[in-house]
Amino acid sequence: MSGARFTYRTEEEFFAAEARDGVSLPWSRDLSPLAETVTVADSDVTLKNRLTIHPMEGFDSTPDGAPGELTMRRIRRMASGGAGLLWVEATAVVEEGRTSTGQLRIHEKNLDAFRHLAEEAHRLSDGAPVILQLTHSGRFSRPDNTPRPVISYHNPVMNEKMDIPSDWPVVTDEYLDSLPEKFGAAAKMAKDAGFDGADIKCCHKYLFSELLSAYDRPGRYGGSFENRTRLFLDAIRAAAVHRDRHFVLASRFGPVEMIPHPWGFGMARDGSLTPDWEEPDRLYRLMHDGGVRLVDMTLGSPYYNPHVNRPYDNGGYEPPEARLAGVSRLIDAAAHMKKTVPGITLIGTGYSYLRAFAPQVAAGAVSAGMADAAGFGRMAFAYPDFARDILENGTLDASKVCLTCSKCTAMMRKLHATGCPIRDREVYLPMYKELFPKE
Ligand SMILES: Cc1cc2nc3c(=O)[nH]c(=O)nc-3n(C[C@H](O)[C@H](O)[C@H](O)COP(=O)(O)O)c2cc1C
Repeated sequence: MSGARFTYRTEEEFFAAEARDGVSLPWSRDLSPLAETVTVADSDVTLKNRLTIHPMEGFDSTPDGAPGELTMRRIRRMASGGAGLLWVEATAVVEEGRTSTGQLRIHEKNLDAFRHLAEEAHRLSDGAPVILQLTHSGRFSRPDNTPRPVISYHNPVMNEKMDIPSDWPVVTDEYLDSLPEKFGAAAKMAKDAGFDGADIKCCHKYLFSELLSAYDRPGRYGGSFENRTRLFLDAIRAAAVHRDRHFVLASRFGPVEMIPHPWGFGMARDGSLTPDWEEPDRLYRLMHDGGVRLVDMTLGSPYYNPHVNRPYDNGGYEPPEARLAGVSRLIDAAAHMKKTVPGITLIGTGYSYLRAFAPQVAAGAVSAGMADAAGFGRMAFAYPDFARDILENGTLDASKVCLTCSKCTAMMRKLHATGCPIRDREVYLPMYKELFPKE
């Protein structure tokens, strides 16, 4: 039963699937809560509605990290689609922390290109806030398209997935010491370029989130909770200097990795797949103390357990759980976080999988206070106008929704420019066919 894919056409079929899978998702036929504005605490930054676009990398920057033609096309399409906030994709703060030559990187020499991106996004969205995600890709770094992992400790489960040899050097404390300043400088650049906030990314096993589980690392960045969270919180402090009413401090934050302890954060010490929220809650409160007021939450690592991070119908493996249970985990985790720190504006996730039922579940979640807004990732690749259709027509067009087929991820894993080969076929289908000629 848990292997069932998404075939539900009517509410009755959808509710029956929930019952079969033992989940009960929030639900509201009244979609009007999704049209409400939300102002981020202690700021004048206001989401135009409660539907947002997650950061979605396209691997299509220019070699020096500036937005390329396809990046600008994506941003224009997304900004025109009626979402209340646009969260711009992973942008490296240092060259050695880029995932490929196609990942954005912000620096003084290409700042005008980022300024242009922010202007276009504001113009086409009629003033929706635009947040820039700042990152160091850590173990996923490939600045010249060959693996140059920056690992903070030897994590056997991740090393195995990535073929990292056991004698690969671990990054030094001195290198880590140098990073907060770089994040602070990048946040200032984001502000100068006209963004409405900077995201200090801590999720998915990229550098800052990997450190959260560096239980055995010696020195200032490993062992105790204080040491494991030091780099992330120092980067937050460095970026917080630039906070003001018009520029918020944000984070893409993954509180629970669903990777057994000690190789994942936020997990029970018995090595089971049971979350333990004690440390994530403590860190979340410290993020608030440090000035973070906007969070786009996520779970898991797309490289280890993509079914946790983005429930899918077709992907690298058959998910070991009912797909709707994965959606439910994401929505419940957001509710937990919202309750823990109500003063952080929280964007939830898990909605793309729900296709045309996403609006009712999103409206149910926000009206029950389980999140302030619903974020969409793959749906925005497939159907950039999803928010307009929900808000203006009260429905999503089933022929335009994301099918969660993972083709966008497959293209990205080849370090190729990515998008939706199914719904945006003119641009991305020829690329996909060239990459995967046998399919
Ligand atoms: C092709 C692709 C690119 C992504 N790029 C980013 C990114 O740059 N930053 C990030 O935090 N998450 C990224 N994600 C994760 C998404 O933001 C999102 O968390 C995930 O897709 C689940 O949301 P969805 O079910 O609405 O797609 C990416 C996911 C995909 C499939």
